[in-house]
Amino acid sequence: MSTLTIHAADPIARIRPELHGHFLEHLGAATYGGIWVGKNSPIANIGGLRATAIDYLRPLKIPVLRWPGGCYADNYHWRDGVGLPRERPRRVNLWWDGTVDENSFGTHEFMDLCKLLGARPYLAGNVGSGSPAELRDWVEYCNFPFGSTLADERLAHGAPGPFGVRYWGIGNESWGCGGHLNPEEYCALYSRFATYVPAHGGTAPFCVAVGPESNDLAWTRRFFDAFRTTRRYQAPLHGYAMHHYFWGKSKPTEYSRETLALQLDQCAALEQGIIEQRTLLDSYATDPKIGRVQLLLDEWGTWDVSDEATEHRYGKFWQQNTMRDALAAALTLNLFHRQADKLFMCNIAQLVNVLQAMLLTHEEQCVRTPTYFAFLLALKHRGNMSVRTELSSSVPLSCSASVGSKEVVITVVNPDPDRGTEVLCRPDGVTISGASGQILHHKDWNAWNSFDEPGTVVPAPLPITLSGSSLGFQLPPLSMATIVGQRKHS
Ligand code: AHR
Repeated sequence: MSTLTIHAADPIARIRPELHGHFLEHLGAATYGGIWVGKNSPIANIGGLRATAIDYLRPLKIPVLRWPGGCYADNYHWRDGVGLPRERPRRVNLWWDGTVDENSFGTHEFMDLCKLLGARPYLAGNVGSGSPAELRDWVEYCNFPFGSTLADERLAHGAPGPFGVRYWGIGNESWGCGGHLNPEEYCALYSRFATYVPAHGGTAPFCVAVGPESNDLAWTRRFFDAFRTTRRYQAPLHGYAMHHYFWGKSKPTEYSRETLALQLDQCAALEQGIIEQRTLLDSYATDPKIGRVQLLLDEWGTWDVSDEATEHRYGKFWQQNTMRDALAAALTLNLFHRQADKLFMCNIAQLVNVLQAMLLTHEEQCVRTPTYFAFLLALKHRGNMSVRTELSSSVPLSCSASVGSKEVVITVVNPDPDRGTEVLCRPDGVTISGASGQILHHKDWNAWNSFDEPGTVVPAPLPITLSGSSLGFQLPPLSMATIVGQRKHS
């Protein structure tokens, strides 16, 4: 028996929907052939966007979508992707195998996608091979209402109103594919580029600096020291984004007990990294500007040993997605909820066909992955107040709980491959009058949803007993459960 106490009157912070954000890159079959099939495709589409993918993604209520990279962002010139598609240049995708990008998916097509999904756009600017002028013009093209040549060009291309893009990334992984810079060099470039990202038409930009790979405290310290002690301090700076991947030691469907544990254990390292990065940012709290800088994690997810035959067939980093991925997602979403006071936005890598994807496609086929369903279950927490919990269990469970005006939402994850447990949830400070729940579970951590059998790892109703205000349910090995309890107001 495991007992979980929900301290409903002990708040952490509101769970921003943006903690459940996503990321799409021009890489493998993520964009071309994945979400974008083109207007003349025999595959059902909405203005070139794969119709089934849109149907599947809508229920996820994607809050924010980052694009066009990743590494690709520092090789992308936005002008290549606007105007008549037949006149757009074909460019070599330097980072991802030198494939040729025909640029039929550009700014307008991305904005169409965001509109269909109800997602806010987050654009990553090109620092590595671009210029401040190029970024300045992209901001103007997107956000200036009308009357400038660039705004009028946007209008001529079919978008009379501004896109109102708030989130602007200033480069990507500048310590690596974004230019192999050291923190001081990047800081100088950051300030130069961010200076030319102005407010237009009522949209105040939110500029995001490149943060560390995982918990590289030296990068953060050196970046902020360089920023705060020089004239660079004058540049706008609102967000700071770290990246963290859960490196696997097996191919996606070949995990052993040992490699499963090795990968899932990295979730704890991420939580520790978030705490330490935020603590370091807070150590500058007396500084009126840096003290307010928000922490993002704008790339995260599982990264398994690649399977050459699979990648050759389906595209680079096309990674089969299993019950193990659902557990990794559930553990991570739980930790985001627990650390809701430290995080501003998180974006899983990536939306379709690359790394830990929501959807996998091949030709006309499209399937929802176990990770998709983990996100679907966790959605119930969004907008609620995350509250503290106390767990007593011999099984290494993970949990998060949140309180809304009408409900209490609890997610419990059991990553243990062998031991199940009965869970008794005791809400403290709130009374529950009824509850329903869903469970995502498969006894095989290597189980996946194939095109032929898309229902292998899908949620099922969770039987719950309610005794007084306490909730009881069974949690088998390898499972995630989300329970929504109705609040009784006295
Ligand atoms: O998500 C795939 C790649 O991983 C991104 O392009 C890059 O930013 C990271 O290294």
